[in-house]
Amino acid sequence: MQSKLIEAARDAQKKAYAIYSNFYVGAAVETSSGKIFQGCNVENASFSLTICAERTALFSAIAGGERKFTHLVVATENGVSPCGACRQVIWELCGDIPITLVDGNGVCRETSSSELLPHAFGQKDLGSA
Ligand code: THU
Repeated sequence: MQSKLIEAARDAQKKAYAIYSNFYVGAAVETSSGKIFQGCNVENASFSLTICAERTALFSAIAGGERKFTHLVVATENGVSPCGACRQVIWELCGDIPITLVDGNGVCRETSSSELLPHAFGQKDLGSA
C-alpha cells in the first residue's frame, strides 16, 4: 500500500500550480477505508493565499466525507518536511499517524505527526470550552 501512496503523491506533485516558487509539492493521504486523496500546492499572486499540498489533500478528503486517516506521504524534489501550519492541520485531522517524506530518489524520511509537532495544541486543550 505504501508504494501506491507514494506514487499518488508523486503524481500529485506533477500537478502543482507553483508558478511563483517553482517548488512542486505533492501529497497523498490514505483513509482507514483504504481510499487515497491527493493534493498539490496551489499558489496565488497574492502570495499568502497559497495553499500547501498537505492541506489540499486533507481538505479534499474531508470534503469527500472521510474522517479517519492512516498515512500521509509528501513528495518534493528535496524531501522537505511539512510547514508549521500543515503540521497543526495534520495533527487536528489525523492525530498521530505515520508520515513518509519522499525526494526525487525515493523515501528519505519516515516520521510521524507527533514527531513533527511535539507538545501539540489540540482539541483536548480546549477542555469543556
Ligand atoms: N509548500 C507546500 O506545499 N507544503 C509545505 O509543507 C511547504 C511549502 C508549498 C507552498 C508554496 O507553494 C511552495 O511550497 C513554496 O513555499
